[in-house]
Amino acid sequence: MFHLILVSFALYACFPYATAAPGWPGSAYGGGLVKNVTVFVPPTEWPLRKTPYARTVLLNQDCEKDEVLLTTWAQQPPGNPYWYIYESKDHGRSWSEISKAYFHATSKSGGGRIEQPYFFELAKPVGKFPAGTILLTGNAIPADLQSTNIEVLASYDKGHSWEYVSTVAVGGAPNATNGATPVWEPFIMMYDNQIGVFYSDQRDPAHGQKLAHQTSTDLVHWGPVVDDVAYANYTLRPGMTTIAKMGNGKYIFSYELGFAPEDPINAPYAVHYRIADSPFEFQQATPYLLKSNDGKIPSSSPYTVWTPVGGPKGTIVMSDGSFAELFINKEYGDLDSWVTVKSGHGIGYSKALTVLPDQGESIIWLTNGGMYGFNDTIVTGGDFKVPGAPSREDTISACRGRGFTVN
Ligand SMILES: *[C@@H]1O[C@H](CO)[C@@H](O)[C@H](O)[C@H]1NC(C)=O
Ligand SMILES: *[C@@H]1O[C@H](CO)[C@@H](O)[C@H](O)[C@H]1NC(C)=O
Ligand SMILES: *[C@@H]1O[C@H](CO)[C@@H](O)[C@H](O)[C@H]1NC(C)=O
Ligand SMILES: *[C@@H]1O[C@H](CO)[C@@H](O)[C@H](O)[C@H]1NC(C)=O
Repeated sequence: MFHLILVSFALYACFPYATAAPGWPGSAYGGGLVKNVTVFVPPTEWPLRKTPYARTVLLNQDCEKDEVLLTTWAQQPPGNPYWYIYESKDHGRSWSEISKAYFHATSKSGGGRIEQPYFFELAKPVGKFPAGTILLTGNAIPADLQSTNIEVLASYDKGHSWEYVSTVAVGGAPNATNGATPVWEPFIMMYDNQIGVFYSDQRDPAHGQKLAHQTSTDLVHWGPVVDDVAYANYTLRPGMTTIAKMGNGKYIFSYELGFAPEDPINAPYAVHYRIADSPFEFQQATPYLLKSNDGKIPSSSPYTVWTPVGGPKGTIVMSDGSFAELFINKEYGDLDSWVTVKSGHGIGYSKALTVLPDQGESIIWLTNGGMYGFNDTIVTGGDFKVPGAPSREDTISACRGRGFTVN
């Protein structure tokens, strides 16, 4: 995570570590952890009041003065679909709407839906997009329900307005049966001066579903489809990519595996993971089933982050879609070192984890958009304190190299 420490030291100039800048008082945390805050409740007049797949981004790579969190989720308002962008400037204690994000394919058709958001803030300029630009990706499904479109939008003003940038991948109708040809579930990471958009892909006739990515150096032109996780067994459905860089410089890639053979009754979407030196080279890496110390196999929609606290090798923290608990690993993903820990939060589908700078990165913000397939859910959030992390009151600079965790 801090491999490019020299680069991050250079940034101290714009927001020195030692200065407790306005909006960053260590004492703001004096009140303790934020337990469970309601971020959004859909209006009662909406026919479908669903809020799954919530995502949060910490804005910190352009040396902002204040800690700013943005959150969005997949929702189905009536009419031309959009996502709300909600902002918090007080460590997640309160939230308010700052904008609506509309996607290209759905706005053209005036209906349909947008699914599976992911946010990313540029730590470095890419093409014409300066550092500090926020990218928002999602799967736009037009009103005719005949295609799936992984689009990238950009915001130059910290999420207050959005413009369409490009469409990375187009697939067939949103049909999750093997044999259909949609694309799903985008995720963004930067490496080696390239932006990678990772997604689930049913278009390859050799695989019911595989995980793949495409890269770009300008966010407009996208390279060929490169496999990340593609099983020889056609039936298997790896899905829901998330990737985290660890302190040893390696990357951990977590995914669910639909029709996983290991424990089909209890873990039909058993979480698997791979470890590699580059986020663009996972296909040759060994797949591991995640089985925790108490025998639990997390299942469905994993979300993985790494933080430098909690032990000499830091801590991997992973959420899944089946348990209220979280799964941690203090040995850089060693197969036998997963431990189940209480989260203080409920079960939810694809719960996002965001490492906060507060208390020396001991606090992870968990965002929960509710259960999969339910029509009446809300978005909640709260802190999770990494076990074994020192209870320091430090509040470190948001721009202290964090953006450079992604090379
Ligand atoms: C979904 O795809 C499968 C496989 O191609 C197909 O048999 C099925 O008819 C499709 N479902 C719908 C609703 O189109
Ligand atoms: C492929 O995976 C499915 C689902 O787990 C399993 O039933 C089947 O036996 C596997 N096929 C082979 C050839 O391993
Ligand atoms: C969080 O708060 C919401 C809304 O009050 C509630 O429905 C949910 O059960 C709470 N979750 C936990 C884990 O306490
Ligand atoms: C949610 O709403 C859809 C569309 O009205 C309906 O088909 C589905 O059964 C509902 N799901 C639940 C869990 O109520």
